[in-house]
Amino acid sequence: MSKKTVTITNNWTGKQVDLPLVEGSQGPYGIDVRPLYSELGLLAYDPGFFSTASCSSQITYIDGEEGVLQYRGYPVEQLAEQSNFLETAYLLMYGELPTLTQLSAFRTQICHHTMINESLKNFFHGFHYDAHPMAVMVGVVGSLSAFYHDSLDIRDPEHREVSAHRMIAKMPTIAAASYKHTIGEPFVYPRNDLDYCGNFLNMMFSTPCEPYPMDPLKEKALNLLFILHMDHEQNASSATVRLAGSSQANPFACIAAGIASLWGPAHGGANEAVLEMLEQIGTPERVPEFIRRAKDKEDPFRLMGFGHRVYKNYDPRARLIRKTCHEVLAQVAPDAYNPIFELALKLEELARSDDYFIERNLYPNVDFYSGIIYRALGIPNNMFTVMFAIARTVGWVSHWMEMMGDPGQRIGRPRQVYTGATERVYCPIERR
Ligand code: ACO
Repeated sequence: MSKKTVTITNNWTGKQVDLPLVEGSQGPYGIDVRPLYSELGLLAYDPGFFSTASCSSQITYIDGEEGVLQYRGYPVEQLAEQSNFLETAYLLMYGELPTLTQLSAFRTQICHHTMINESLKNFFHGFHYDAHPMAVMVGVVGSLSAFYHDSLDIRDPEHREVSAHRMIAKMPTIAAASYKHTIGEPFVYPRNDLDYCGNFLNMMFSTPCEPYPMDPLKEKALNLLFILHMDHEQNASSATVRLAGSSQANPFACIAAGIASLWGPAHGGANEAVLEMLEQIGTPERVPEFIRRAKDKEDPFRLMGFGHRVYKNYDPRARLIRKTCHEVLAQVAPDAYNPIFELALKLEELARSDDYFIERNLYPNVDFYSGIIYRALGIPNNMFTVMFAIARTVGWVSHWMEMMGDPGQRIGRPRQVYTGATERVYCPIERR
């Protein structure tokens, strides 16, 4: 804790309190407001957490004004272009890039856990064929805590690590099974000879009758998308995982809570909503009409995949994904996918030259272009948010492990400013 302080004066009572600053390694300092209540009897009020740091963390750094994103200090652009899924996952979980030996041991650990318990398959069959895969994910991931009792002692660091490995390893298996269930095909077992992304594509698209022809370009594109989605500091779903975990809930239940939070269209559900929006727009000539609607405060329509709480500049992830769209679509059936990409480019161009979007610093976010690549990989719209969940699981477990390893960790319990009725006397029903 630094000796720097800020002084808060309650002009109403004249009382003052010196609040210590909390220094980070980069980015804004925090004010430790914990003495506010004990010293002044006041609460900090910040619905939506615009100016509230809910914790300190060493995992991910964002500078929203400059459009910077770093995992453990490494720019995400370098990792997306030079690293792969498991290497970056190791970095997020353990804080350093692995040596060859460490990476090989990590890979062995993850591969060891890729299968799911055979009984777990019964859960999928309990869902109707048209269940949204995110609904299946919330249910099945939550149910993992009923199967893996041997890693549920959250006070034991080894148990925590095994649970984290299990989550990272099983998410692609559960995600692919949720898709296979909706299309009525048999589940495909994981193949540990393939890499993380290749194994997922194989579980999605091979059948007992037909092998999946592995395309290195598709694997590479998926690696890049997964790395870019792995973590984003205290976003809604990671904050949900931390809050759920702060009550000492088991890790599988915490990740299920994170999946539920991710599902909303203001967060991870936006990638699915972007493609629906582009399909609704249909042709470039209709783009101005939808821009007009997005600006109209009477119209609930918003440009999906635009705007971000933290980025007031171009989202670095969107920039990389847009570049990858060019590469992937040029090689994978350009005639089929280019029209939707061109529509998205047109929408971006018009929005970014419009005063409404300029004044509010609204730029494309990570979700704006990702669905176009997913679609070119053969992933259906309703699986887009599931893809996000697979990648973000690494961030969720990293945050959970960081929090659980902190000896000062306490239950997260926000306060409120009460605006309801003041004390009144109960009136029996016959007299109301
Ligand atoms: N289209 C039109 N107007 C927008 C948009 C948009 N996509 N996003 C923000 N605005 C406007 C708001 O109406 C508001 O205008 P006002 O100041 O005149 O009232 C202003 O910009 C600020 O927007 P807020 O909603 O207050 O910003 P907030 O930080 O609360 O919300 C959010 C951020 C939820 C991402 C918002 O921009 C949005 O709804 N975007 C579309 C959904 C989306 O793409 N979500 C994915 C985010 S990235 C992720 O989670 C992976």
